[in-house]
Amino acid sequence: MNSQKREKVTAPAIQAMKGGATKITMVTAYDFPTARAVEAAGLDMILVGDSLGMVVLGYDSTVPVTMDEMLHHTRAVMRGVETVHVVADLPFMSYQVSDEQAVMNAGRLMKEGGADAVKLEGGRVVASRIAAIVRAGIPVMAHIGLTPQSAAALGGFKVQGRSLDAARGLIADAEAVQAAGAYAIVIEAVPRQLARMITARSSVPTIGIGAGPDCDGQVLVCGDLLGSFDRFTPRFAKRYAELATTMRDAFTMYANEVQTGVFPAQEHGFAMSREVIAALEDELANLQ
Ligand code: KIV
Repeated sequence: MNSQKREKVTAPAIQAMKGGATKITMVTAYDFPTARAVEAAGLDMILVGDSLGMVVLGYDSTVPVTMDEMLHHTRAVMRGVETVHVVADLPFMSYQVSDEQAVMNAGRLMKEGGADAVKLEGGRVVASRIAAIVRAGIPVMAHIGLTPQSAAALGGFKVQGRSLDAARGLIADAEAVQAAGAYAIVIEAVPRQLARMITARSSVPTIGIGAGPDCDGQVLVCGDLLGSFDRFTPRFAKRYAELATTMRDAFTMYANEVQTGVFPAQEHGFAMSREVIAALEDELANLQ
């Protein structure tokens, strides 16, 4: 646990870490206890990602996630942090319709959810959305490359930017979101050489996920990192714990101990004085 007291990490502070010696650290979180653990570990940023749909709500994709679900989980995370910078995802169809819709929903994540910034997916096509939200005074993190909300249009969860045309497209996307005012760019599932080129060309930090080591920072989905989400693990994720196994083992042990009378033991209960017990037993005996 990092006991050093630090100030709240802001969007300008993240932007100032561009090209620095210290990499930016980010992880997703969707609830109070996880947010507290991230705060205690001293990471820079939490993403309340719409990955919560798959990781904690059990949906098959991020598409069904609603604004209400995002708000509910963002509030829980905000109650668990003091200094960590919290970015909340705009879910599918909360910004695609118009700039006005994007500003309204970004405003809700900040005003009702308490988020410090919002993230949305897309490059050139969402540049006007980013500019509108930034004009409203809300910091925006962009997300290019593999954008899970459009997995259907991309033909699945595939590496992006491998061909010359696709790589040129992603470079243009990064330039467009930066020009629109994004303060950082998530780059997901692109070849490391391309991520390095984009990072070298941008004046805002790049946060990689499956984009190699040359980005200015890294983000992982907490369910992948902790091993609490066991439906699948993307190739680019690294597991630092096996929480699903730890939880299953703990529940099995608990059930065994309840069934065999090992739990609860003396130390898990409360006692009464001998006098009260004796008086009560007398009273109950007289009632019979
Ligand atoms: O929702 C999410 O967790 C994300 C990350 C994959 C960056 O957008």
